[in-house]
This record gives sequence, structure tokens and C-alpha cells, in this order.
Amino acid sequence: MQPRAEITEPMIQALVHSFYERVLADGEIGPIFAKMLEHRWDRHLATMVDFWSSVALSTGRYGGKPHVAHRDLGLTPAHFDRWLTLFANTAHEICPEDAAAFFIDRAHRIADSLQIGLDIGSKALHLSPETSHARPHRQH
Ligand code: HEM
Repeated sequence: MQPRAEITEPMIQALVHSFYERVLADGEIGPIFAKMLEHRWDRHLATMVDFWSSVALSTGRYGGKPHVAHRDLGLTPAHFDRWLTLFANTAHEICPEDAAAFFIDRAHRIADSLQIGLDIGSKALHLSPETSHARPHRQH
């Protein structure tokens, strides 16, 4: 799915700010963010605006490592489902239909990629030595 011409920076600002307001108010995932970002919400929001600007408008403003940022948060597939539901609700309210569909599609793909990195969820590969049953034993 290609970025749509109607996606603008003000739309991304509105999407990100409205989404994290809902996230903070959410009983399931709000506390994870509140704890991590207590004194640096403004920085996080600016990072997330840059992130979505890079994804949707190819501005290259985000150069971080999302996989590393999510590594030690104890996230579960249920957390991701909740995140994606809140994100989809926000996108549908803030954006025209095509733009909302674009953001939601990208969010799902990135959530899949983060979960594969964390080795959780239905697409997890479970390749670490402790959990792998598929690898043949090496002969020495
Ligand atoms: C279970 C769902 C999720 C939770 C609870 C979560 C939580 C967090 C938290 C607490 C941070 C701040 C880390 C820090 O600065 O110390 C963060 C950063 C970030 N998250 Fe998530 N996240 C979730 C899913 C996602 C998804 C689906 C995406 C992308 C579509 C995403 C994109 C990012 C990005 C780009 C950052 C900034 C990383 C950086 O500092 O460069 N997150 N997330």
C-alpha cells in the first residue's frame, strides 16, 4: 500500500497526539507508557511524529531502533492487540479513509516485526536454543 497524497504533517501530529492521549487513559497499556515516559512525554511524542513522518512521507526524520526500545518492557501479544485497536480507532476518527487504512496497515506490519523480534505472537519463530525443537542437534 503506497502513502496517500492526502497525508500531511498536521494530520500526523493530530494522529500521534490523540493516540497517546488514549493510550495513557487505557488501563491495559497506559501504565507501561506512564512508567517508562513519566518525565519525557514531549520527547516521545516528537519522536513518534518523526517516526510516522518517515513511514508515511519518507522524510527520513526518524533514525532510531524500535526493536531495542521494546526489548525490556515485558510486552505480550495482548498488549500489541490493545495498542493496534486503540491506534485503528484513532486513525479512523482523525484521518480520511485511505490515509487511515495506510497507517493501520503499516502499524500491523511493524507490530508483527516487533513481535517477531521479541519472539512472541502467532508469527514468532522460536529459534532461540532454549525454545527450539526444530533444530537438528549438532554432531561433535
Ligand atoms: C504493546 C504495544 C506497545 C507498547 C506497550 C509500546 C511501548 C513503548 C514505549 C514505552 C516506548 C518508549 C521507550 C523509551 O523511550 O524508553 C516506545 C517507543 C517506541 N515505540 Fe512502542 N510500544 C508498542 C507498540 C509499538 C508499535 C506497534 C509501534 C510501531 C507501529 C511502536 C513504535 C515505537 C517507536 C518508533 C518508538 C520510539 C523508539 C525510539 O526511541 O527510537 N510501538 N514504545
